[in-house]
Amino acid sequence: MLANGVVDRSRAAHTPVVGTADGDQRIMVLRAFDSDAMTLRFHTDSRAPKCAVIEQDPAVHVLIYDRDRKVQLRLAGVGSIETEGQQVDDAWSEATNFARRCYLGSAPGAPSDIPTSGLPDHLEGVAPTDEQLVEARENFALLLVEIETIDWFFLDHHGHRRARIDLRDRGQETWLAP
Ligand SMILES: Cc1cc2nc3c(=O)[nH]c(=O)nc-3n(C[C@H](O)[C@H](O)[C@H](O)COP(=O)(O)O)c2cc1C
Repeated sequence: MLANGVVDRSRAAHTPVVGTADGDQRIMVLRAFDSDAMTLRFHTDSRAPKCAVIEQDPAVHVLIYDRDRKVQLRLAGVGSIETEGQQVDDAWSEATNFARRCYLGSAPGAPSDIPTSGLPDHLEGVAPTDEQLVEARENFALLLVEIETIDWFFLDHHGHRRARIDLRDRGQETWLAP
């Protein structure tokens, strides 16, 4: 489900709900899933409030409900915000200039007197040049989530099924009453 969510925009796993230790939640696009390391990768703005929250308390929850598969996944893990290094550089170079443009605007959550995209007027609806994007790079960050536990719930009218996988304990798996 997670690997599929990265590549298929129509799946619920493409846009999970990501919860942080302050109790807040938001939708984020799942950019990568490493099934060996069991890590998820999201892209974000280093100035967004969630980054400071994760840096203070790295507990992260990821929630997905795929209606077609009738599966709910509740993942709990440890988040980290990365702004430097090979992985960040690679993700930045893979992004289109249109996608990178998000990181050129005002900080997420900055107040405004008018409805705003936060972007400078001359970049509304326009892909910036590489030169214009130089200053955006420092606002680009990865949220990496190392999954610790998975609560898997399968909805079935014959009787639901539920399992818990604890990756911290050599992948210990337990069936649970739904
Ligand atoms: C469909 C959709 C996809 C989104 N994808 C992302 C994303 O990949 N990264 C991100 O930081 N915010 C994304 N957002 C915006 C967040 O939901 C959120 O509003 C923003 O990141 C500010 O969050 P914060 O105030 O908790 O830091 C997306 C919103 C929607 C509706």
